[in-house]
Formats: sequence, structure tokens, C-alpha cells
Amino acid sequence: MRESNRFRKMIWLVSVLILDASGSPLHAAETDRISVAIQCDPAKVVGSDTCTKCHENEMRVWHETPHFATFDTLHRKPEAKAIADKLGLGSVKRNETCVKCHYTQQQVDTRVRVVSGVSCESCHGAAKEWLELHADYGGPNLTKADETPEHRQQRVSKSVAAGMNNPANLYLIARQCLGCHTTPNEELVNTGGHNAGSREFELVAWSQGMVRHNFLQTNGTSNAVAAQEELRAMFVVGLMADLEASLRATAKATTKGLFGTTSAKRAATLKQKLYYVSQQIENPDVEDAVQAALSVPLKLNRSQELEAAAATVGKAARAFAETVDGSTLGAIDPLLPSPEQYRGKK
Ligand code: HEC
Ligand code: HEC
Ligand code: HEC
Ligand code: HEC
Repeated sequence: MRESNRFRKMIWLVSVLILDASGSPLHAAETDRISVAIQCDPAKVVGSDTCTKCHENEMRVWHETPHFATFDTLHRKPEAKAIADKLGLGSVKRNETCVKCHYTQQQVDTRVRVVSGVSCESCHGAAKEWLELHADYGGPNLTKADETPEHRQQRVSKSVAAGMNNPANLYLIARQCLGCHTTPNEELVNTGGHNAGSREFELVAWSQGMVRHNFLQTNGTSNAVAAQEELRAMFVVGLMADLEASLRATAKATTKGLFGTTSAKRAATLKQKLYYVSQQIENPDVEDAVQAALSVPLKLNRSQELEAAAATVGKAARAFAETVDGSTLGAIDPLLPSPEQYRGKK
């Protein structure tokens, strides 16, 4: 990168880090504020029991996580009831707000029911339209060993087109994590008193501890931590997806309250981190994301610009995840969390 360019970026960085939450409230539609993009379409959810047949190992891991447990525990917690009460909501399990992030709904005939906590499909996408094709090696009697690389490639891209958040492109999954873990709902935080997102979230640490399920690589014999090259890519994808979600959350803020300031600070921190990464590696997608984030002030009343910047960051993240070669990212190794920091590691 040319020095002049680098210098210009520094100036930008200093100017945009001065958080300013002044300005008049946005006029975001009520529904827009409440909604989060991460919910599965209940009509397309098949339920985790369907996955168990072929993915018993992954299922066992999931059963040990708070994602699974929240189904039985959340509604019993006084803190949960207190939040729901402050928002004037009834049963924790039966209101659209809590259900979006804590549960999975499935429609059977005309009835929509809550069937589990944060499930396989919350992260991998509602499966009705991709279930069959994701597991087809190219014919009824073929096995993994018979599958050609071309067929594998096609299987992955078809599954993605049918709505699967396939780990072949980690951004698709990271986007889901951050859609919940930034809690982009102002009323939930400011009025309900819910945590303003998981402030320590970082994709490597949070996916490689208790949540980790990585069996295919070893044909089911062990739950391996991803390879160093993959962890590097995952780290950068996590920063970009978090930056995107934090910009979107900032765009939704209508007041200087806890939600708005936390979201803006989160976006500012991520912008700084990604900027630092862009100085360590040469990558056009990371560069695009940094430029987009630097171009917009983290202020109230800028929701359109913030959303547009977020969209550019998301697009860059997706392209990065699609094309990156982790072996070129060695310079960021010092930034990666150590295994001791993996969240809830056993
Ligand atoms: C009929 C068996 C079967 C069922 C049911 C099934 N899977 Fe799979 N799944 C497979 C096979 C086979 C693979 C490919 C493994 C490989 O890479 O060789 C796979 C791979 C995956 C992958 C890795 C990405 C990929 O495409 O290789 C994910 C994620 C996944 N399945 C999620 C799920 C989820 C979520 C469900 C339930 C909604 C599910 N699967 C149900 C057989 C199944
Ligand atoms: C936008 C996503 C989102 C929505 C909507 C949401 N939550 Fe949460 N909630 C989370 C996340 C993510 C966590 C974990 C936060 C963390 O890292 O500490 C959490 C944690 C909690 C906790 C703390 C859990 C514990 O183990 O102590 C409670 C209580 C809670 N939520 C209640 C609710 C209630 C009640 C509602 C509905 C009024 C709700 N949440 C709606 C995302 C959400
Ligand atoms: C549909 C919303 C949703 C998605 C998607 C989601 N989470 Fe969560 N996650 C939650 C909620 C809600 C909790 C807290 C559950 C509780 O304690 O009741 C949680 C808890 C966790 C925890 C436990 C935190 C702790 O230490 O207590 C980890 C780790 C975690 N999530 C990681 C991830 C990762 C990594 C991803 C993406 C690969 C992800 N989550 C995707 C909603 C979600
Ligand atoms: C919190 C989000 C989350 C949930 C819930 C989740 N996954 Fe995953 N899944 C991921 C991520 C992230 C990866 C990529 C893992 C990696 O590289 O460490 C992945 C990878 C996979 C893979 C390929 C790696 C392997 O060999 O296991 C399969 C298969 C899979 N998931 C199936 C499932 C099934 C089945 C469930 C439900 C029992 C499930 N997942 C629940 C996020 C999730």
C-alpha cells in the first residue's frame, strides 16, 4: 500500500473515532427496530432430530451448549421474566422478541411451535430446501470416497443457493452468530435491561471452545480444532461480520442510551481492529471493508449511510471468505486468541 494512502487512512481513523451520539432521533419504523435478520423461516425448518441420523457427533456437542440448554432454562430464570415484564411481554417462550434469538420455531401443518433452543438450523439455515442435496454424493450408492471434486463444489454451491449456511463460506455462519450476539434491538436493551450484546465475542474463541464440532475432517474420530490457516481466515471473517452487525445496530439506535453507545463503541473498536489487520496483510476485500467503515460517522441520524456501509462490509466479508488463502495471513498470528481463551473449552 502506498504511504500517502496509509496516511490518509490514519487521519480518517482519528476523526471517526470521536464518538458523537448527538443529533435528532431517527424515524425508523417500529417493525424495523424490533426485527432481526437471523430468524429461520418456520415453514422451512425441519428440526434438529432430522440431522441426528447422520450427525450424531455434532448433536452430542450441541447438547452440551447453552444454545441447546436455553430451551429449558431461559423461561425459568427470574432475569428473563424481569426483561419480559419490563417490555410488557407475556410468556418468554411465546413472544416474537425472545423467540428470535433464544429459540427455533417450526411450522407443522398450520401450527407454528417452538421446538428447540438455538439449533443446527439457527446457524446453518432452515433446511427444507437443502437437506437432500447437501448429503448427496452424486448418486444413491456413492460414498464420500467416490465423490469427484467437481461434484463436491457443485453440492456446496447448490446447498448455499438453497439457503444453507455452509461452513465452506464461514461468513454465512458468522453473520448468524453476530445477528444474535450484537442484540440489535434497542428496546430490548434500553427498556428491557437485556445485555447489550456479547461484548467479548470473537469468532475464533467463541466457536472453538464448547461450540466446536469439527468431525468430518477426521472421519468422525475426533473433534479437531480448525487448522491454523483456517483460524486466521475465521478471525478476519469474524471481525468483518461483527463490524457489519455493529454498524447495522448503530443504524437502528434512536437515542444516546446504552444500546446506541454500546453499538457505536463496538463498531469503532472493530473498525480499529480491522484497520490494523489491513496494515498487516494485503487483501482487497479487507481494504474495501475498512474503507466503507471509515467513510461513515458513527452517529445517530445516519441510518441510511450506516446501513449502506454495513452492506459493503458484508459483501466484502463474503468475498473474503470465498477466496482467502489462510496461508497468506501469517502476519496476524499474534492477534489470534490462545486455546486457553476458547470460550467454555473442556
Ligand atoms: C441423510 C444424512 C444426512 C442428514 C439427514 C443431514 N446431513 Fe448434513 N451431511 C451429510 C453428509 C453425507 C455430509 C457431507 C460430508 C462430507 O463432506 O463428506 C454432510 C455435511 C454437512 C455439513 C458440512 C458442510 C457440507 O456441505 O459438507 C453441515 C453443516 C451439515 N451437514 C449440516 C446438517 C444439518 C444442519 C442437518 C439437519 C438439518 C443435516 N446436515 C442433515 C449427511 C446428512
Ligand atoms: C437479538 C437477539 C436476542 C434477543 C431478541 C433476545 N436475546 Fe436474550 N440473549 C441473547 C444473547 C446473544 C445472549 C447471551 C449474551 C451473553 O453473551 O452474555 C442472551 C442472554 C440472555 C439472558 C442471560 C442468560 C443467562 O444465562 O444468564 C437472559 C436472561 C435473556 N437473554 C433473556 C431474554 C429475554 C427474556 C428475551 C425476550 C424479551 C431475550 N433475551 C431476547 C440474544 C437475544
Ligand atoms: C439465533 C441466535 C444465536 C445464534 C445464531 C448464535 N448464538 Fe450463541 N448464543 C445465543 C444465546 C441466546 C446464548 C445464551 C443462551 C443462554 O444462556 O440462555 C448464546 C450463547 C453462546 C455462547 C456461550 C457464552 C457463554 O460463555 O455463556 C457461545 C460460546 C456462543 N453463543 C457462540 C456462538 C457462535 C460462535 C455462534 C456462531 C457460530 C453463535 N453463538 C450463534 C444465541 C445465538
Ligand atoms: C452456534 C452455531 C452452530 C450451531 C448451533 C451448529 N453449528 Fe454446525 N457449524 C458451525 C460452524 C461455525 C462450523 C464450522 C466449524 C469450524 O470450522 O470449527 C460448523 C460446522 C459444521 C459441520 C462440518 C464440520 C464437522 O465435521 O462437524 C457439520 C457437519 C455441522 N456443523 C453440523 C451441525 C449440526 C448437525 C448441528 C446441530 C446438532 C450444528 N451443526 C449446530 C456452527 C453451528
